[in-house]
Amino acid sequence: MTDTPRDIGVGVIGCGNISTIYLTNLTQRFTRGLKTIAVADLMPERAQAAAEKFPVKAMAVKDLLADPSIDLVVNLTVPGAHHEVAMDVVNAGKSVYNEKPLTLSRTQAAELLTAAGTRGVLVGGAPDTFLGGGIQTCRKLIDDGWIGKPVAATAFFLSRGPEGWHPNPVFYYSLGGGPMFDMGPYYLTAMVALMGGVRRVTGSAQTTFATRVANSQHHKGLVINVQTPTHIAGVLDFASGAVGTIVTSFDVWCHSLPRIEVYGTEGTLSVPDPNTFGGPVKIRRAGVDTWSEVPLTHGYAVNSRGLGVADLARALQARRAARAGGALCHHVLDIMHAVHDASLNGRHVDLTSTVDRPAPLPMGLTDGEVD
Ligand SMILES: NC(=O)c1ccc[n+]([C@@H]2O[C@H](COP(=O)([O-])OP(=O)(O)OC[C@H]3O[C@@H](n4cnc5c(N)ncnc54)[C@H](O)[C@@H]3O)[C@@H](O)[C@H]2O)c1
Repeated sequence: MTDTPRDIGVGVIGCGNISTIYLTNLTQRFTRGLKTIAVADLMPERAQAAAEKFPVKAMAVKDLLADPSIDLVVNLTVPGAHHEVAMDVVNAGKSVYNEKPLTLSRTQAAELLTAAGTRGVLVGGAPDTFLGGGIQTCRKLIDDGWIGKPVAATAFFLSRGPEGWHPNPVFYYSLGGGPMFDMGPYYLTAMVALMGGVRRVTGSAQTTFATRVANSQHHKGLVINVQTPTHIAGVLDFASGAVGTIVTSFDVWCHSLPRIEVYGTEGTLSVPDPNTFGGPVKIRRAGVDTWSEVPLTHGYAVNSRGLGVADLARALQARRAARAGGALCHHVLDIMHAVHDASLNGRHVDLTSTVDRPAPLPMGLTDGEVD
């Protein structure tokens, strides 16, 4: 008789804006093989409020870290706290799944991955939107040869910034914020999942406005000093030979550009918004003069934040690599920094990190299931 592995116990640190969708999905959909047990926050009333809404207990951060029933911690703190909290988790002998960006600096990311390796625990991180039905369908179309060999790709995230809607917008304009570090992970992770790793980059970055004015209920009128570039244009040389272009901005009122397109030798693929899990996926093959919308081949087409956590929990149980794994997050962080460095230094930057494309999800999974 073989033992059934026990459920992976999950704790969440950071009960702010994004925690609601994680806790909804982790307690209602991703319940096979993992059990979300507890939440914690620097502000105990936030953990308490989450515990009143979801079937989890509120704990102090140090108690959650010491709790032997918790194997995996989801780190939903602000970017400036990602490294410290994740290191505490790993040093407590637990695996960690960070919101994006993985850490502020590449040195911190390398330190985290090394510490996790030494401890025998796993690191993973957001985004997991590339595991959604939209981008998994794109992956299948590329792998099945529908656009031939990808030769180039473009990605555009252009907006006027989050200070108009986000309740606590200050961190978006601090180190580790800005449109590249905030939104770049969605676009770059999707591109790497579709086209593989990047070998070198160049780019230009500028800080257009010195201050921003918050508009949320609690911070209305607060003047935010901008400490990070807010318009960044990057060129990415993929290891495969394809050339990518990415523009991220908090300085643009409106535009009519696509989110992501992949250009192949036999056609073009229109990739859906990588900050969502669904479609539409559109293709236009060589010699055809209209776009066709492709039915999604995979599930998880609704907001499935937490799918990467479920995959990491499964990776722990099955002793396989996590799809939204630390090496992928580290590579994406490396690309984002390298684009900024290239702008500062006026040159191409060779990346030191490498990563393989994460394995595609199999088709036919039921909701809540990960292979
Ligand atoms: N808000 C969104 O729409 C969104 C979407 C996707 C990803 N994210 C990412 O999720 C993360 C959190 O974003 P948010 O919008 O929920 O921020 P938030 O400011 O609303 O919440 C962050 C929470 O973390 C807590 N916290 C900070 N430092 C801590 C520490 N050292 N220990 C324990 N708790 C600590 C804060 O008290 C706060 O409750 C960020 O990395 C962000 O990039 C946010």
